[in-house]
Amino acid sequence: MGERRSKGAAPDPWILGQLDFAAPMSNESFEIRPADGGLLVLLPGLGAVSTTFVAGIQAIRRGLALPVGSVTQMGTIRLGKRPEGRTPLIRDFVPLAGLDDLSFAAWDVFEDDAYTAAMKAGVLEPTLLDQIRDELSAVRPMRAVFDRNYVKKLDGPFVKAGATKMDLAEMLIEDIERSRDAAGAARAVMIWCGSTETFLEPSPVHDDLESFERGLRENDPAIAPSMIYAYAALRCGIPYANGAPNLSVDIPALTRMASENGSPICGKDFKTGQTLMKTILAPGFKARMLGLNGWFSTNILGNRDGEVLDDPGSFRTKEESKLGVLDYILQPGKYPDLYRDLYHKVRINYYPPRKDNKEGWDNIDIFGWLGYPMQIKVDFLCRDSILAAPLVLDLALFLDLSSRAGLRGIQEWLSFYFKSPMSPPGVYPEHDLFIQRKKLANTLRYLRGEDMIHHLGEYTLETSPEASD
Ligand SMILES: NC(=O)c1ccc[n+]([C@@H]2O[C@H](COP(=O)([O-])OP(=O)(O)OC[C@H]3O[C@@H](n4cnc5c(N)ncnc54)[C@H](O)[C@@H]3O)[C@@H](O)[C@H]2O)c1
Repeated sequence: MGERRSKGAAPDPWILGQLDFAAPMSNESFEIRPADGGLLVLLPGLGAVSTTFVAGIQAIRRGLALPVGSVTQMGTIRLGKRPEGRTPLIRDFVPLAGLDDLSFAAWDVFEDDAYTAAMKAGVLEPTLLDQIRDELSAVRPMRAVFDRNYVKKLDGPFVKAGATKMDLAEMLIEDIERSRDAAGAARAVMIWCGSTETFLEPSPVHDDLESFERGLRENDPAIAPSMIYAYAALRCGIPYANGAPNLSVDIPALTRMASENGSPICGKDFKTGQTLMKTILAPGFKARMLGLNGWFSTNILGNRDGEVLDDPGSFRTKEESKLGVLDYILQPGKYPDLYRDLYHKVRINYYPPRKDNKEGWDNIDIFGWLGYPMQIKVDFLCRDSILAAPLVLDLALFLDLSSRAGLRGIQEWLSFYFKSPMSPPGVYPEHDLFIQRKKLANTLRYLRGEDMIHHLGEYTLETSPEASD
């Protein structure tokens, strides 16, 4: 108890996940390159989430609002034993890019600049948007790599034409290089904020880079536009995060490419709204060994995302992402008496009057002592993009940190942000929000050579969870 792990010694693989095969595994400490120069955030998709993110950064820079919901900006991290009283802000503890260092570039199938797109998305008040109109109007999208076969409910004129998918990838690479030069940025990250694509199973063309590149040249239908963006980012050595549930970078060809060329990646599907609530509540029921026999979730939303999800193909992608959560948290195989018969249903209904202000209802049928049933009802009047925007910021900053720390491939420690976290082969994804949060904090501690927090102190025997992570 109380011994100090030597700086940079091998971490517990359970805590750090992907780090154990992605990171330098020696007794050397992590060399984190400083966050000098600008960071360009590349956004495929300039819709509700992207514009709420970009507008939010401009508003925060101007002192008009606070970065609420952002762990990198508002979160602290406890270091050492509690009596040491060391709890710096995360952004003071690890070298992150500052908000003033960020610039933005985007692609969309519509030509609207970020001001117009934000007005149309209707998430933020026009009175706020008007105060930052100049900065927003300056963010003009580039032509998208888009194909209606992958997003049935969307069509837009502002798209690239190319004979092959490889040609389109090369055009994206040119876009990335041009935008980076124009912004004078030292580094870049790409966060997919485009629409949810139709459900695709992994197929042989995704198996390795050789078959994937052949597929790009031969226009293989199993290669969706989001994969072309991810491939372009990785070719440029840029980190990539996938905010939507479609496969995108989550195929062996690209995860391996990311490991080999040094790009950190993560996904899938921002954890906001109903699934956030689910991964907050379910670990609590399990911690108390309360049983569950039903969880019915339904929501109404009326934004463009809702319209896209009205298509059964896109909905299936989302449904898969939302349904996996409870099985992994509750582990019915280990606790058959409590969770074996759980009936879990998720519905999304497109209802235009509600716009981005989704309403999500959950009916949860639980049971307690002697099997006596109880019900919990949750009615979450949420704002989807308000919950998603801080995740885009944190992912951009943490992926950039990963890149400067030499981490590569799947960044499992960022599972905290996703409904359907990518995990390395042989490791099941972790969905419990509190384990995810610990993993994130412990990874940051590890990168800075600090002890991980295990809750067994040298001053008192603590067995209760720490609230002050
Ligand atoms: N808002 C949330 O809380 C939340 C949570 C989890 C996941 N997501 C996912 O994030 C993504 C963005 O959500 P949103 O609410 O901003 O949706 P949105 O419909 O407002 O914006 C998506 C934008 O992407 C554009 N687009 C689609 N395909 C493109 C392509 N191939 N290239 C470039 N642009 C493309 C669309 O034209 C649109 O402007 C969706 O996939 C959504 O499912 C959102």
